[in-house]
Amino acid sequence: MQIIEATTDHIYNIQVLSDIIWPVTFKEILSQEQIKYMMDMMYSTSSLEKQMTELNHHYLLAEEDGEYLGFVSYEINYKGTQTTKVHKIYVLPSTQGKGVGRFFIDTVSKIAKKNNNTILSLNVNRFNKAIEFYKRMGFDFHASENIDIGNGFLMEDYIMNKTLS
Ligand SMILES: CC(C)(COP(=O)(O)OP(=O)(O)OC[C@H]1O[C@@H](n2cnc3c(N)ncnc32)[C@H](O)[C@@H]1OP(=O)(O)O)[C@@H](O)C(=O)NCCC(=O)NCCS
Repeated sequence: MQIIEATTDHIYNIQVLSDIIWPVTFKEILSQEQIKYMMDMMYSTSSLEKQMTELNHHYLLAEEDGEYLGFVSYEINYKGTQTTKVHKIYVLPSTQGKGVGRFFIDTVSKIAKKNNNTILSLNVNRFNKAIEFYKRMGFDFHASENIDIGNGFLMEDYIMNKTLS
């Protein structure tokens, strides 16, 4: 498996992955309407382009034998602090549990440390079983927040942080 730094040329590949992973991940947590709304907000071509070219979100893709297995996106110096925000981390259902997620977190941790960042931070839905993965990776609960994303939809999240040593 190798990690590839994604560019706007990979937007289609990221969309293919999210189309597979998102509905499965959130089918028991969010309504179909909210899933569609959030996917459009986060994965439309214009949104991904803006994240990559204006908002300093870096995307990494895991690739093996010509197949993309998942992606992670992160932002160094989030809000002008020594924190790296992990915005997204998604692995294909058929590949989950095989170490790709850990590899992503380890890779982003190394990049964050190289940039003198001391904390990895992320938001996770309070009902997402990925919380167990994050605990395993050394993240702790930092706060709980409800984010109004419009259209009557809320993101009910925990903020989880990991101190980089
Ligand atoms: C969460 C996710 C990124 C984790 O990636 P992964 O490749 O499946 O995880 P890994 O195989 O690297 O697991 C690393 C460790 O976490 C543990 N782990 C992973 N998922 C777990 C879960 N749901 N419950 C308990 N432990 C879990 C693994 O057992 C492994 O433990 P080990 O240290 O004993 O080997 C992946 O499962 C995923 O994409 N899930 C759906 C999308 C999602 O919810 N993304 C997060 C949005 S905030």
